[in-house]
Amino acid sequence: MRTKGVNHRWLVQSPIQGPIGPHQFRWNESEIPAPVEGQMLVRNLWLDIAPTQLLPLRVAPEAGGLPPGTPVPGYAAVQVLESKHPRYSPGEILYASSAWEEYSVIDGTGYWDAVKVPSGVSPDLAVGTLGITGLVAYFGVTEVARPRPGELFLISAAAGGVGSVAAQIARLRGLKVIGIAGGQAKCDWLLREAHIDAAIDHRSEDPAARLNDLCPDGIDIYFDNVGGPILDLALERLRPHGRIVLCGMTGRYADPNPAWGPTNYSQLIMVNGRMEGLLGRDYFDRFPEAMAALLNWVREGQIKVKEDVVVGLDGAPRALARLFSGENVGKQLVKIAEPAPIE
Ligand SMILES: NC(=O)c1ccc[n+]([C@@H]2O[C@H](COP(=O)([O-])OP(=O)(O)OC[C@H]3O[C@@H](n4cnc5c(N)ncnc54)[C@H](OP(=O)(O)O)[C@@H]3O)[C@@H](O)[C@H]2O)c1
Repeated sequence: MRTKGVNHRWLVQSPIQGPIGPHQFRWNESEIPAPVEGQMLVRNLWLDIAPTQLLPLRVAPEAGGLPPGTPVPGYAAVQVLESKHPRYSPGEILYASSAWEEYSVIDGTGYWDAVKVPSGVSPDLAVGTLGITGLVAYFGVTEVARPRPGELFLISAAAGGVGSVAAQIARLRGLKVIGIAGGQAKCDWLLREAHIDAAIDHRSEDPAARLNDLCPDGIDIYFDNVGGPILDLALERLRPHGRIVLCGMTGRYADPNPAWGPTNYSQLIMVNGRMEGLLGRDYFDRFPEAMAALLNWVREGQIKVKEDVVVGLDGAPRALARLFSGENVGKQLVKIAEPAPIE
């Protein structure tokens, strides 16, 4: 089957500087491409919008960035329309490396290989809570943090994609959970839906003062999604043998002159603390394990899924911008299409 028609796409323009928006990308119409041996034509259904997508878009091509005219890369839930790949068949839904366009030709490789979405799992869940978002939340809490019941767990961007899942896993592991988030709506969701113990609104409250009140004896674990001043606050309060899970640095990605390091990492010496980077790719082989555990919790209602959906491919740049303005509540996704019967 060969699909004819127009393929709408967002292409890389020049390296992104300043506020993110559609003006930083090029909207393009082209022919739907055809796969050759080892490839497949897919319909992109849902895009996973993630803060790290900004990093290669800020780099000039001569410094290793993406050449202008490249479709903006990203992970997506896709439906296979036509396959010349031995492992994938028409009709299957995959979580795969793809691009900001309606149709893509892919070969199933990328940062990690395409994963088949089990039947009964909706594509938005597969690309969000059960995708890399859930994978890093799951292994970040259960393995990198090495939690013990009753310990105090602090997390930033707690109402975001990774944060909302990690905070709930920590609660399920018997930890006392404090979430830091931007805005009352996010804090309300954390308390009422995610059922964590306390929420700090960093926009209207002083996080240092609230932490002093909430945990005068310090914290055991900090799950870091943003870096910057909150990492410093966590280091100051780390208890003996405390752990810091370095998941991401969203607060630094859009900064033209980022100060990457914490100012007070010597605190780790004073408390025999551990700060460890978490890389989702390391856990790729254990994707099924995390997916099964998360799916079970979601179906039992023990983990509430929070998705922030921008509808339409044309909204993809706006969706990326929402991560850096803090507008997103839950996992930021773009919905392009629903799966359709394959002729
Ligand atoms: N290590 C890995 O393998 C891996 C894999 C996936 C994701 N990650 C990381 O996980 C983190 C969360 O990703 P996500 O997709 O779930 O995004 P997200 O947390 O849903 O969205 C980004 C959030 O970051 C906060 N933020 C934005 N600008 C900020 C700033 N200047 N300073 C402080 N906070 C700011 C905002 O939350 P508030 O309004 O609540 O502050 C915003 O909602 C990211 O750092 C990402 O890179 C790592």
